[in-house]
Amino acid sequence: MPPALRYRSPSRRPLWIIILVTLICVALIGAYVYPPRQYAACYFLSSDVCSPWLPPAPARVYTDDEIAAHVVIRDILSIPSFQPKNPKVAFMFLTPGSLPFERLWEKFFLGHEGRFTIYVHASKEKSVHISSLFIGRNIRSEKVAWGKISMVEAEKRLLANALQDADNQHFVLLSESCVPLHNFDYIYNYLMGTNISFIDCFEDPGPHGTGRYSEHMLPEIEKKDWRKGAQWFSVKRQHAVLILADSLYYSKFKLYCKPGKEGHNCYADEHYLPSFFHMVDPTGIANWSVTHVDWSEGKWHPKAYRAVDVNFELLKNITSIDEIVHVTSNLKKQVHRRPCLWNGMKRPCYLFARKFYPEAIDNLMNLFSNFTVI
Ligand SMILES: *[C@@H]1O[C@H](CO)[C@@H](O)[C@H](O)[C@H]1NC(C)=O
Ligand SMILES: *[C@@H]1O[C@H](CO)[C@@H](O)[C@H](O)[C@H]1NC(C)=O
Ligand SMILES: *[C@@H]1O[C@H](CO)[C@@H](O)[C@H](O)[C@H]1NC(C)=O
Ligand SMILES: *[C@@H]1O[C@H](CO)[C@@H](O)[C@H](O)[C@H]1NC(C)=O
Repeated sequence: MPPALRYRSPSRRPLWIIILVTLICVALIGAYVYPPRQYAACYFLSSDVCSPWLPPAPARVYTDDEIAAHVVIRDILSIPSFQPKNPKVAFMFLTPGSLPFERLWEKFFLGHEGRFTIYVHASKEKSVHISSLFIGRNIRSEKVAWGKISMVEAEKRLLANALQDADNQHFVLLSESCVPLHNFDYIYNYLMGTNISFIDCFEDPGPHGTGRYSEHMLPEIEKKDWRKGAQWFSVKRQHAVLILADSLYYSKFKLYCKPGKEGHNCYADEHYLPSFFHMVDPTGIANWSVTHVDWSEGKWHPKAYRAVDVNFELLKNITSIDEIVHVTSNLKKQVHRRPCLWNGMKRPCYLFARKFYPEAIDNLMNLFSNFTVI
């Protein structure tokens, strides 16, 4: 062992470290006491305005329609909502015809009369009902073409009908292949106990996201505000009114977001509400849908469950999901995961699930009381 080396290193290293740490501290204190001017200003301004490397963009001159839309939106959002004595949830079924899971839904609703209202929009053929809860609940309907604006029109028609009842405070859009995952009380309390709407919303830079954007949307809708999300929403009353009040942004989607437009496809039901709410009330939406669907097979359509697939384990798996996963459609296939936060607490994300084949009804009926204990 060379003794000199052993003796030198322990004594010199601490001194060298102390000098370095002192210099760093002096530099940090200096930066804190004398911050560069641009940074100091940033503490008081929003991040958009204060990026020190870019001059602030001049505010665009708004059109008359935009000025009008902005005041209407602002006022609807600022008016405190009227609390009825008997608040109800509106269940709005968007279906081609009869509902294959009507018996299951009846089981779900029975005993909770007075706390829900049902609306059925049958877009292909008359919806024939077997349950007294559903009889007489069909609204005047129009044909719906998949992916076209008529889909959003049908959603608005359902909302307009449901808004006529002042007791309806939350509005859930469901398809004929949807089933409930919890009992009525759980779902009612989940939707009514929070201030937000459950609208799926994320930024997908890939061909199925931003790739569907058209410059014709300008100036009102900029590319950076383009969002995507599943169609199956659940909105509070204020947001339902907002959807019906909007004609400015809606007409842009009606004109420029269509299948086959300009050589690419755009589906208004996947982009209008996510982009609209991202622009007008981003913190008012949860950014996920309470209706589960399984896209993990990576096909053009989501997984649909047959009778053999439906067992206690499947339903338990779906109800235990408490994280939302969004995958971008570009080559990177980036996966974004976020916990489902309900009033700041981590909770299961899903209240409903799709898609189930009609043949799954018996299994679902048998399991219903078991998996909906909460
Ligand atoms: C809903 O929002 C209002 C005002 O923004 C707030 O006072 C109230 O506590 C919120 N309610 C819930 C359940 O978060
Ligand atoms: C939803 O996303 C927006 C950003 O687009 C964010 O501002 C908002 O807080 C999110 N909502 C919730 C409930 O976290
Ligand atoms: C439930 O989840 C587990 C763990 O992710 C998985 O191994 C299993 O196959 C799932 N079962 C069903 C029926 O989906
Ligand atoms: C439901 O639960 C009960 C008691 O836990 C059990 O006996 C029954 O087999 C279950 N039914 C199904 C369809 O799993």
